[in-house]
Amino acid sequence: MSMSLLLLSFLLALSNVQGGSNFRICAFNLHHFGESKANKNDVMTILASIISRCDVCLLQEVRDNKGTAVPKLLQTIGRYDPQNQYDALASERLGRQKSYQEQYVFVFRTNTVTVTGQYQYPDNLPGDEDAFSREPFVVRFRAPKTSIKEFVLIPQHTTPSNTTKELDALYDVLQQVRKMWKTENVMLLGDFNADCGYLAKKNRQNVRLITDSSLYWLIPENSDTTVRLTTSCSYDR
Ligand SMILES: *[C@@H]1O[C@H](CO)[C@@H](O)[C@H](O)[C@H]1NC(C)=O
Repeated sequence: MSMSLLLLSFLLALSNVQGGSNFRICAFNLHHFGESKANKNDVMTILASIISRCDVCLLQEVRDNKGTAVPKLLQTIGRYDPQNQYDALASERLGRQKSYQEQYVFVFRTNTVTVTGQYQYPDNLPGDEDAFSREPFVVRFRAPKTSIKEFVLIPQHTTPSNTTKELDALYDVLQQVRKMWKTENVMLLGDFNADCGYLAKKNRQNVRLITDSSLYWLIPENSDTTVRLTTSCSYDR
């Protein structure tokens, strides 16, 4: 009896660690993803192995000028994980300078998720100070197998030198999206640069995303979301 209880609690703990429902939402900065990476088969296979862990994966730093790299990535993912079907939804090219632009791209499993709404946050709202380099491309998903059924993702890749301001401005996006779609099931995600030198401790009090205690940060302050051994910062949140 006690052995089986022990085993049961171990299994429960295990399934908690893995997310219980098996439904996964991820964010991944692909670091200049375009034609050159798309032509490296070994790189593409590694990317496919990572992205296919997730039901929805937000890709950032997609710089696919010819529009060929993302379709190629989808093909690679399809071959890597034939059990699921994948599609992608891309924002327009975003950025203050024409010479440097990025897209947000959501790769998602069409067998578990459908897109039910999208909203490109505008570049210049009246009275807005143009806080973002890359305005969030907000997407609503329906996922019948999850208990909440529907949720909204607000992506952001901040500019390191403007991190404090951009993070704070995300709070306004969140309020607008909550009202627009009458939902509390909202997750903000991406490469926020929200740590170390880009977000000084003394500036955190100026970020409403941090000071509003009704919001919950899934990835804690002390986690290392970088791959480089010499940095330990929770940039990605
Ligand atoms: C930082 O924000 C200001 C004002 O919003 C903008 O003019 C400037 O270009 C931004 N810096 C970068 C590197 O995007």
